[in-house]
Amino acid sequence: MTQPEKPPIEIPQDFGHAPLDGGEESHGAQHPHHHPQPYIAFEHVYKAFGDNVVLDDVSFDVMPGEVLCILGRSGVGKSVSLQHIVGFLKPDKGHIKIAGEDITGYDDKQMQTIRRKVTMVFQNGALFDSLSVRENVAFPLRERGELREDQIQQIVTGLLEMVGVDEELAEDLPSELSTGMKRSVAIARALAAQPEAILYDEPTTMVDPLIARLLGDLILKLKRQLKLTSIVVTHDMRFAQRLADRVLFLHQGKAHFFGTMDEMKHSNDEVLRQFLELDQLILPGA
Ligand SMILES: Nc1ncnc2c1ncn2[C@@H]1O[C@H](COP(=O)(O)OP(=O)(O)O)[C@@H](O)[C@H]1O
Ligand SMILES: [Mg+2]
Repeated sequence: MTQPEKPPIEIPQDFGHAPLDGGEESHGAQHPHHHPQPYIAFEHVYKAFGDNVVLDDVSFDVMPGEVLCILGRSGVGKSVSLQHIVGFLKPDKGHIKIAGEDITGYDDKQMQTIRRKVTMVFQNGALFDSLSVRENVAFPLRERGELREDQIQQIVTGLLEMVGVDEELAEDLPSELSTGMKRSVAIARALAAQPEAILYDEPTTMVDPLIARLLGDLILKLKRQLKLTSIVVTHDMRFAQRLADRVLFLHQGKAHFFGTMDEMKHSNDEVLRQFLELDQLILPGA
């Protein structure tokens, strides 16, 4: 398929990545001078639902600006892991750190501050049905209450352009959009909150390969242009291969593998081999 590459979109100058030290609180730990600190870290996290042990001593980290892909069979705890990062779930044991803060014991109010830095893009987009595309994206900007209407409109236009949603669709309701477009709008809305990190739960499920490619392009663009830290949960190996700086493979409650995609592909581990072969990344005899 030959889709001409659109030139990279310039985002409005005044809509830069919020400086870490520009926030309301300033924790000294946020600005490491020597060794960069992980932006997100799981330290020996345990989580069970009754007898169902989902995370059993899981540790991993994501460096600032890095894309981590979380892989693993269905039901292995990928979504549960993301829900721990935004505080919808709390670990039974272990610690979760974000931007240098240990959020493990944070209450809902403290988590609101974290959720401004780390936003989740849900599979269904979780858009407001009764608001137009434009108003959905404008929503987080209006919530800030400090921008003029013309600034809001300018930023919304820039964000829709950035995620590849045609201006013509701006007045449509979410129900009028394709699945892929809904996801792009959801990403635009997430960006409007000026996060430092975005979590994507299975962004390519139920979209055709071309849209999957465009979503991948977009995630990479956000990494390069906005230096966003990302976690992408996916079962799509090709997608992961394009995006991932590092890969976390969950299996039977464990971080079975945590490393680069190259290391994963060349691993002789039986569980990984099976997973890779199932995904036809490595064809038998190839
Ligand atoms: N809120 C919950 N209450 C009880 N069990 C849950 C809850 N959320 C997830 N689970 C269970 O945790 C396991 C992992 O789920 P999930 O993280 O959604 O898997 P996936 O890797 O497919 O995203 C599953 O067995 C699921 O049934
Ligand atoms: Mg899931």
